[in-house]
Amino acid sequence: MVEDEHGGRRLEVRVRGDFIDSNNQNKLLDIDLVQQNLTTSKIGKRIIHLATTPSTNTEAKELLAEGCEEGTAVVADVQTEGRGRLQRTWYSPPGGLWLSVILKPSGLQPEKLPLMSLAAGVAAAKSISSLYPVEVHLKWPNDILITSKKLGGILNEAVYSGTELDGVIIGMGLNLDLPLGDLEEDLQNTATTLRTELPESVEISNEKILAGILNHIERLYDLLISGKHNEIIKEWERYSTTIGSRVSVNLDGDNKLKGEAVGVDELGALMVKTDDGSIHTILAGDCLYLIEEG
Ligand code: BTN
Repeated sequence: MVEDEHGGRRLEVRVRGDFIDSNNQNKLLDIDLVQQNLTTSKIGKRIIHLATTPSTNTEAKELLAEGCEEGTAVVADVQTEGRGRLQRTWYSPPGGLWLSVILKPSGLQPEKLPLMSLAAGVAAAKSISSLYPVEVHLKWPNDILITSKKLGGILNEAVYSGTELDGVIIGMGLNLDLPLGDLEEDLQNTATTLRTELPESVEISNEKILAGILNHIERLYDLLISGKHNEIIKEWERYSTTIGSRVSVNLDGDNKLKGEAVGVDELGALMVKTDDGSIHTILAGDCLYLIEEG
């Protein structure tokens, strides 16, 4: 482990194990560059950079249990057991951004946590679209899309001691500077990468994207803590392709609900109007678009 002091920000690089592909060593994130682009006071003040780890969310949970400071971020160049929503595995090769941020929103009612997932999506969409000529969209609850294909996703995990909330891990995976061919074959029809969506001449900086995400996470987290939920929702709606779409939402088991997505409520739950005119509020589920937007 190498440890250094950079203007009060602690930089740590831990290299555990070998790179999956040693030719990709030049893909190692430059954490100095990330920190030069940060404007935050607590998010990303400490960044733990791992060459490879099973899952940054798992690593972040361990750090939380050890009593790390709020805002600590964990990034890995490669995850070997990355986790997605609904117990899916998350393929995490070099060139992507595999990130977890530890928050300790003491006193926040747990029912407001889904708003932090929406906020994380906004942070990713804003950071990428302010740096590159691409339109990034958000699909409820946690998908980040370009041209209707999945660029990334969010897996937030709350950690409790009994009924008390110890913290929340914001997990984010983004397929950034890697060709589509580096993704698993069965993902290649439904997923995309930023590299695929940009002309070859455009250089991608995972560092600048990461710094932008951390800056926005801090801003949006402050909105959440100060009760300005509507502002988070308004920002999410600006990027969302869900509202106004016909959707099918997978609920528990084989249950599906079909209808028109008409909005999200003040807690980030999706409101779906079914064909009989009734409105259903859905806290969690997997959402499919029945008709392509646009
Ligand atoms: C999804 O299913 O869409 C969510 C994917 C979230 C993946 C990220 S990558 C960083 C963090 N660590 C994990 O193991 N998962 C999340």
